[in-house]
Amino acid sequence: MKPRHFISLLDLTGDEFRGLINRAAALKNHRDPHYQPLKGQVLAMIFEKSSTRTRISFEAGMSHFGGSALFLSPRDTQLGRGEPLQDSAKVISSMVDCIMLRTNKHETVTTFAEHSRVPVINGLTDQQHPCQLLADMQTYFEFRGDIQGKTVTWIGDGNNMCHSYIHAAMVLDFNLNIACPAGYLPEQAIVDAAGDRVKFFDTTLAAAENADLVVTDVWASMGQEEEQNLREIAFADYQVNAAVMKAAKSDALFMHCLPAHRGEEVTAEVIDGPQSVIFPEAENRLHAQKALLEFLICGK
Ligand code: CP
Ligand code: NVA
Repeated sequence: MKPRHFISLLDLTGDEFRGLINRAAALKNHRDPHYQPLKGQVLAMIFEKSSTRTRISFEAGMSHFGGSALFLSPRDTQLGRGEPLQDSAKVISSMVDCIMLRTNKHETVTTFAEHSRVPVINGLTDQQHPCQLLADMQTYFEFRGDIQGKTVTWIGDGNNMCHSYIHAAMVLDFNLNIACPAGYLPEQAIVDAAGDRVKFFDTTLAAAENADLVVTDVWASMGQEEEQNLREIAFADYQVNAAVMKAAKSDALFMHCLPAHRGEEVTAEVIDGPQSVIFPEAENRLHAQKALLEFLICGK
């Protein structure tokens, strides 16, 4: 039987997504050290790019559940020397219980999943970052309740995070207002699939009107460092600042997956201000992914 993978939020139904959020909240509220559903089980973590939150949350989560996690860098494995992905997926999945990958190309994760006999988790690709959305949505539910019918505003790059926000809007049924500079829009096919849940705006203020949640991300993602100067010019009008938060609802939350660049995509006043929930959001990576591991590996 094919294992259940988590490559995209579209792999989940709305009920499953809400189930994961509820389970993550329960795990956060009560940590029972005797509950070890993954005792003796192993998670392989393949990182082609840097990470603080993703690595630590998966490693700590496996440890809380009685299992262990292996950090694998392509530099130190045969993956970096060109061993075919198919062979690597077959070999690694014959020895571990779950595989998490953070890769440059999205296809690396989908190819791995095709050839893996254990669940594969997308820990970020150039196209999507679904694990971050589990934590973001857990955080929204924690502070404000269900997000169905609410309005979320995405400001900045139409990047992996933006794509996963579009998917979250589809699965959890909320409205997504997007303000991105020309040339940095999300992929058209992803936008088209979301129908009228997603709307585009020319200015950040128009996009933020009546928002319940305002979200942004760095202007240059990992692998785009050489474009930093060009992007600083293109994104100059796409900063989340006090004026943007004022256009949103008075009780709107602010989120950012981190790491953040204060003074670029967001002012220090906003990210360190009273509407920002970035630290619960980061912590929830741990709880949400523990719920995910339990769901994928234990099937509950
Ligand atoms: N938000 C996030 O994925 O952080 P890391 O790059 O530190 O894992
Ligand atoms: N868009 C960012 C997210 C980092 C967690 C990147 O891909 O670098």
